[in-house]
Parts: sequence; structure tokens; C-alpha cells
Amino acid sequence: APVASGSAHAKVILFGEHSVVYGHTAVALPMFNLRMQARAWRTADAARFESAYYTGEFRHAPDFMAAPRAAVEAVLEQVGGQLDGMSVSVGGTIPLGRGLGSSAAAAGAIVDAVARLHGAELSETERFNLVQVAERVAHGRASGLDAYATTVAHPIRFRNGLAAVLPMRLSGRLIVADTGVHGSTWQAVEMVRSLRERFRRRVDRVIEELGTLAEAAVTDLAHNQIVPLGGRMNRAQELLEQLKVSHPSIDRLVGVARRAGALGVKLTGAGLGGCVVALAHADSVDTIVQALQEAGAAQTWTLTEAGAAA
Ligand code: PMV
Repeated sequence: APVASGSAHAKVILFGEHSVVYGHTAVALPMFNLRMQARAWRTADAARFESAYYTGEFRHAPDFMAAPRAAVEAVLEQVGGQLDGMSVSVGGTIPLGRGLGSSAAAAGAIVDAVARLHGAELSETERFNLVQVAERVAHGRASGLDAYATTVAHPIRFRNGLAAVLPMRLSGRLIVADTGVHGSTWQAVEMVRSLRERFRRRVDRVIEELGTLAEAAVTDLAHNQIVPLGGRMNRAQELLEQLKVSHPSIDRLVGVARRAGALGVKLTGAGLGGCVVALAHADSVDTIVQALQEAGAAQTWTLTEAGAAA
């Protein structure tokens, strides 16, 4: 029987997590060596999922499979396909709940595999909208940043649902380190929302400055201004701490990377755990990576300019 497949890469948000939900600019880069893959094929039985997280009948899938399930249902509706008699497998190397876009990449891979099984060609917009259906199930108020960033193969500048190619010239290196702590995007987004309910003026000022930092970073990235870029990353981390989305595990890796010579370090993604991203001169990468590993980082990755990770 023919098997259709799909795949999507991870992403790292450099600026604009949380503030992007309120209409400000964000900057994100692809991380090509971490991917989610999906396959779809026909079976004689009731629809099934196969994954490291859950294997069994589609209709009995537990709550944590609600987003992949929504992706399957949405793409079937789009292409006019039937749920019964189809199996979908999903899995990959993007760690879950670490702010690297695992949920959007899984949804993107599923959408591609199921569409291909039905011989359907989706436009970029159709695909984005289908991934967003799953992202809303996963996160509630999803800005769409992850859905785009895990789809396109270049750095993006994103605002209000629209993405543009971001010209990037950077002689420094970006290091991503995983705290190993699972952070819930849903919870983090909800915490910012409720903090803003209580302290509207103060929180709006913080969110606005995060947006301003992202805009200024666009210029830094285009002109290889790595020292000011690092300073803006450090300032963004302070502001994200004020939004209460940092975490002791994040604060620890941020401190370690700075002391080891990073020009700038901040959390990436929703926070409450997850990963940090550090900017460094190429010749200090090894020292910083070693310090992060000694401090207990679960994994580290180094990105080159194009977003390819080694
Ligand atoms: O799911 P994560 O950890 O990659 O974070 C997504 C970024 C947020 O700004 C926190 C939420 C959103 O929808 O943009």
C-alpha cells in the first residue's frame, strides 16, 4: 500500500515570544536538524495513530493527542477524505514542550502526509491555516509564529499573521540549550494574559519594549551588529522575567552562558522551562557549550547563519 510522508523542522524564536501574541514583531530562525516526521497510509481498520506518545485507535486518543488529532481532521475536511481506513504515524527529534516548535512541526508533518495520501497539493496559506487549527487546540491563543517558522526554510520577521523573509548576516553563532524542563505554552500565554488584566499599563509597556527590541534586532541581524544584538537579547530576558515566564532552570543557564562569555542570552519560546538561546563569537562557542553542559543542560545545539544546526 502506498505510504505518504511529511516533515517539518524546529524553530528558535530570537525575539518576540509573548509580545507577538499582542501584535508586535517577532524574529525566528529554522533549526533544520531537528524535525518531526509523519506518515499516512490506508488500513482496513478504524483510523489509528502510531507514535512514541500514543499508539491506538484515533477515537480513543488521549487528551495530549488532541492537537495532532485536530490536524488530521482539519486536513481531511479540506481534501474531502475519510478518517476510517487511515493510519497516521508521527514522531521525530524535536523535544516536546521546550519552545522549539514541536507541536507546530508535528501538525505540519501530519498535514503534509495526509494531504499527499489524498493526492492534494496545498497552497502555503492552506497549509498554514490547517497547522493553525492544531496550534489553537494546543495553545489557545496561537499567534501563528510557530506555524510559519516551522514551515519556511529561512529566518522570518513575523507580525499579525504575516511573515517576511529576514535578511541575515551574522558572524556570531547561536547556541540553543535545553533545560530539560517541560514548559507549557498554554500556561505561559495564560499567565501573561492574566498579569496584563491586573497590571495593564505596566505589562503593556513591557510588551511594547519587547516589540521594539525585535524591530531593532532586524537591523542588527542584517548588518552583523552582534554586540548590540547581544545586549538586546539580555534586555529581552529581563523583560520576559518581568512577565514571569522565566524559570529557575532558565535563569541558571542564562547566568552560566553569560559568565562563559556569551554576548547575550535569553529564554526562547514560551518559557516556564524549555530552552535558552545564546549569542557568541565563534571562538567562544566551545567554552560556552561546555559550561552549559556542565551546568546540566539536557542538550545543546549550535546554529550557523543559515539556521542549519551542527
Ligand atoms: O510554543 P512555543 O514555546 O514555541 O512558544 C510560542 C510563542 C508564544 O509567543 C509564546 C506563543 C505564540 O502563539 O506566539
